[in-house]
Amino acid sequence: MSLRAIVLAAGKGTRMKSARPKVMHEICGRPMIWYVLRSLRDAGIEEIVLVTNAELDPYAAAFGVKSVIQREQLGTGHAVRVALEAMETRPGGKIVVAYGDMPLVPHATFRELVEALHGASLALVTARMGAASNFGRIVRDERGVRRIVEVKDATPQELALEEMNAGIYAYDEAALRDAIVRLRDDNAQNEFYLTDTIAGLADAGHRVAPIEAHKRDVLGVNDRTELATARAGLNARICDGHMRNGVTILDPLTTYLEPELTIGRDTVIYPNTSISLLSEIGEGCVIGPNARLSAAKIGDDATVRESVIVESEIGDGATVGPFAHLRGHTVLGAEVRVGNFVEIKNSTLAEGAKASHLTYLGDATVGEESNIGAGTITANYDGVNKNRTIIGKNVRIGSNSSLIAPVTIGDGALTGAGAVVTKDVAPGERVVGNPAKPLPKK
Ligand code: UD1
Ligand code: CA
Repeated sequence: MSLRAIVLAAGKGTRMKSARPKVMHEICGRPMIWYVLRSLRDAGIEEIVLVTNAELDPYAAAFGVKSVIQREQLGTGHAVRVALEAMETRPGGKIVVAYGDMPLVPHATFRELVEALHGASLALVTARMGAASNFGRIVRDERGVRRIVEVKDATPQELALEEMNAGIYAYDEAALRDAIVRLRDDNAQNEFYLTDTIAGLADAGHRVAPIEAHKRDVLGVNDRTELATARAGLNARICDGHMRNGVTILDPLTTYLEPELTIGRDTVIYPNTSISLLSEIGEGCVIGPNARLSAAKIGDDATVRESVIVESEIGDGATVGPFAHLRGHTVLGAEVRVGNFVEIKNSTLAEGAKASHLTYLGDATVGEESNIGAGTITANYDGVNKNRTIIGKNVRIGSNSSLIAPVTIGDGALTGAGAVVTKDVAPGERVVGNPAKPLPKK
């Protein structure tokens, strides 16, 4: 049996008032269309045709779907017709039609819908959205669902109907192809409504099978207010998933998560924390409050407070913050301590190393158990090149040292407070002053 989907996303999205195609607006770090496609795939629907406009079409390939451009937006029915014309006819095929502006539809809803199609020519999702909704109204008679009336075409009696069209459908392919060419645009918006296929098929004696969904799952995003509502809904769902897996989230409302994160059990996330871009966090960690983690990899039992971690790794038992900034491929080993007002870029700190206060480490390698004194900076940029600073094991860098890269400081060496280190320091050597010079051996 052939099962395919058509996703409509060619609409102008006028109500968003945006230069960006509506379905490319992000929700929890992913374009809203990403969620629709993921749900369809999770429901086992792999062949998807996206109906786009000229602005959206260049993005389609990145989503791994075929696309068809609907040059003129003549309505949802017209969009489906454009897609069908580009799709080979498959006898006995089934086609799901979904709208690209409904990012919260769970894959289970698509599954149920396809199951409901057994013995019917059309299955559709309905929901009770509340009286103010602009969703189409479902009109029934004693035989069941008969037609859908759009709000702009509805009589006051029809507007009062509580059962509404969520905008998700599954069709027997032959029935859809037949109904789609019969659509007319003699309505308030002069559009070819996909929703008129329901009356078309019901009138021709086909069975229409409705299934009901909860309104929070079928929210459509047409403007920025609905975008915010959808974000809150998705974020709550993502937080729920992690909490069910054993993560403590003190305040899901102020914890901003993305899909596809890994967070270990007994990790505690404090408020005002955002975690994005496939970050991985181990077990028993403390994250936040006020932390931003992006593409971060954090081991077990680590602590990150009031800090920003971007594209960096933190080892088991390490402590970062408050007020630290790790970025650009920084790697902290186990039990490393990074404290207040420390910025680290493209550097590696081995197990047990410490930079507790007011430090900049850029393009540096710091060995085990070395201590970087307050106010130390690596002068890694000479105006042309970025140069490395290599610090061995058990090194003591005195407060306010300036390490002028490229420079190597050997194991067990020491720099005095305020040292300006311009030349390599041998293992065990002690240097002081500007420029730093060795002290006599003890
Ligand atoms: C549509 C339904 C309505 C349903 C609601 C649920 C129709 C006629 N109405 O209304 O019954 O309650 O969704 O969310 O279908 N699109 C195209 N080409 C077009 C027009 C639209 O691809 O020519 C796409 C849009 O990009 C959008 C989707 O179809 O992703 C739905 O269009 P939209 O204008 O948002 O329809 P609604 O007014 O929300
Ligand atoms: Ca819509």
